[in-house]
Amino acid sequence: MQAVNIRQADEVDLPELLKIEEDCFGSERFNTETVRAFVIRDDTFVLIALEGNEILGSAMCMVSELDLRGKIASIAVLKQRRGTGIGAALLDECEKVFRSHGLVRYSLEVEASNSLAIALYASRGYVVKSSLQDFYGAGRPAFYMEKKLDLQNAPVNVRSA
Ligand SMILES: CC(C)(COP(=O)(O)OP(=O)(O)OC[C@H]1O[C@@H](n2cnc3c(N)ncnc32)[C@H](O)[C@@H]1OP(=O)(O)O)[C@@H](O)C(=O)NCCC(=O)NCCS
Repeated sequence: MQAVNIRQADEVDLPELLKIEEDCFGSERFNTETVRAFVIRDDTFVLIALEGNEILGSAMCMVSELDLRGKIASIAVLKQRRGTGIGAALLDECEKVFRSHGLVRYSLEVEASNSLAIALYASRGYVVKSSLQDFYGAGRPAFYMEKKLDLQNAPVNVRSA
């Protein structure tokens, strides 16, 4: 089995990214223009997990340097490749990019019935902060989950005078 690598997506990856959207979200997928915007804008990024040239999963994120917040808009792994650590690896990598921008608070919305995704986020320290009624349509609430970096215990560089 080949190793799974993660890298930032660019526009040539759009067709494959759209396949992941279709596989994971069906009629609720992001449309082409939305995915393209995530790929090309300066305040967003898309990560892809690859085995060889095949994209197995993706993560789409937003960066707000103004209030030091990162938002995970979507993490998706091809159905037949789930449960093998790809989602967790994508989430870890999103946080690395957030940290490289100096962001200290990361958040997302997830459908309240999506127990697998909630378990993934909870396993990485995200906590449910609120419930958002009808977020995904009538009778389909979401949880707003957040993770704050523990700056109290963050390493600091001490420079001698
Ligand atoms: C949510 C999703 C991204 C997880 O991806 P994945 O690659 O299957 O997840 P991983 O294999 O990395 O598992 C990470 C954690 O998720 C949970 N999890 C994943 N599969 C699980 C399963 N079959 N049973 C129980 N928990 C599971 C566990 O907490 C796991 O942690 P562990 O490895 O320490 O046990 C994937 O299920 C998916 O694409 N779902 C459809 C799209 C979606 O709903 N995205 C989230 C909302 S944007």
